[in-house]
Amino acid sequence: MALGEVTKKQLRPIRSFAELYHMGSIPFVAIFGLNKRYIHSDYKVTLWGRFRLVTRLWRNTRHIATGTSYKAQAAIAAKLLSIPKSTQGVVVECGCWVGGSTANLSLICKLVDRQLIVYDSYEGLPVAEKGDRHAKDEAAGMFCGALETVQANVRNYGDISRCEFRKGWFSATLPHHSEKIALICADVDWQASLHDVVVNLWPHLNPQGYFFIDEYMYLDYCGLFWSESFWKKYFDCGPPGLMGSGVGVGVGQYYLGPFDWKVDPTSIAYTRKDFSGHWNYDPQT
Ligand SMILES: C[S@@+](CC[C@H](N)C(=O)[O-])C[C@H]1O[C@@H](n2cnc3c(N)ncnc32)[C@H](O)[C@@H]1O
Repeated sequence: MALGEVTKKQLRPIRSFAELYHMGSIPFVAIFGLNKRYIHSDYKVTLWGRFRLVTRLWRNTRHIATGTSYKAQAAIAAKLLSIPKSTQGVVVECGCWVGGSTANLSLICKLVDRQLIVYDSYEGLPVAEKGDRHAKDEAAGMFCGALETVQANVRNYGDISRCEFRKGWFSATLPHHSEKIALICADVDWQASLHDVVVNLWPHLNPQGYFFIDEYMYLDYCGLFWSESFWKKYFDCGPPGLMGSGVGVGVGQYYLGPFDWKVDPTSIAYTRKDFSGHWNYDPQT
């Protein structure tokens, strides 16, 4: 039997083992992923506090459907905990589906005392734009989480007092964004959607602000962060590059494919506003 024909039933033991692995990793994520060496002294977070946070991140991914692993969210927490409190800026999530990632981001925002702005259509993915190689017409409306559903999930599992929800297509809502941003988390699937997020929000990102994406495994998609023509055209600068392009950052996950459905959502990729991914050596010049 070819690997692609492995059935869900046959995968069940692997899934159970994967669940055990994830649960067993919680202390390691708390100790090493959120290592206190990288946490700014402004935050008085004890090991117990980190353990509690990571446990809640893990628990929420079991209660609410989400495309993001708790380890990826812990990686986001680590970056937010490294930013001094004196650096102003909200956290922005673009693409929340039913609010699993939002609930976890809201808990992280509570820890670092920042607001979370959540942009989504709350109607699922938009119709495919011409030239978008990742979008599919038949997938329009997928990942639909109604605003009320997202809010209920955040109320039950996160901290809704940290959140502001902004509804609409990115092309309509993001141009009106005005707040400084400490960190952006974009899980938006289509190229056109990522384009809207970067073009509209990058100017608001702090000089050392972080930009995370979920679709790290698609090289063409990651290519936006390496594209010299894109960054020249929209920001008159070189590309920032993307840590984790193609493989994700090392959050202790693993790849179990190729299967036709995901056993395990895995890692994440990121860049920072002051990073540079620009090749400038040419022996002929
Ligand atoms: C894969 S889901 C997000 C999953 C979520 N981050 C999680 O981990 O559970 C993608 C989300 O992006 C939203 N989205 C994508 N493109 C959009 C656009 N152009 N305008 C508004 N929302 C968009 C969809 O509505 C959907 O909720």
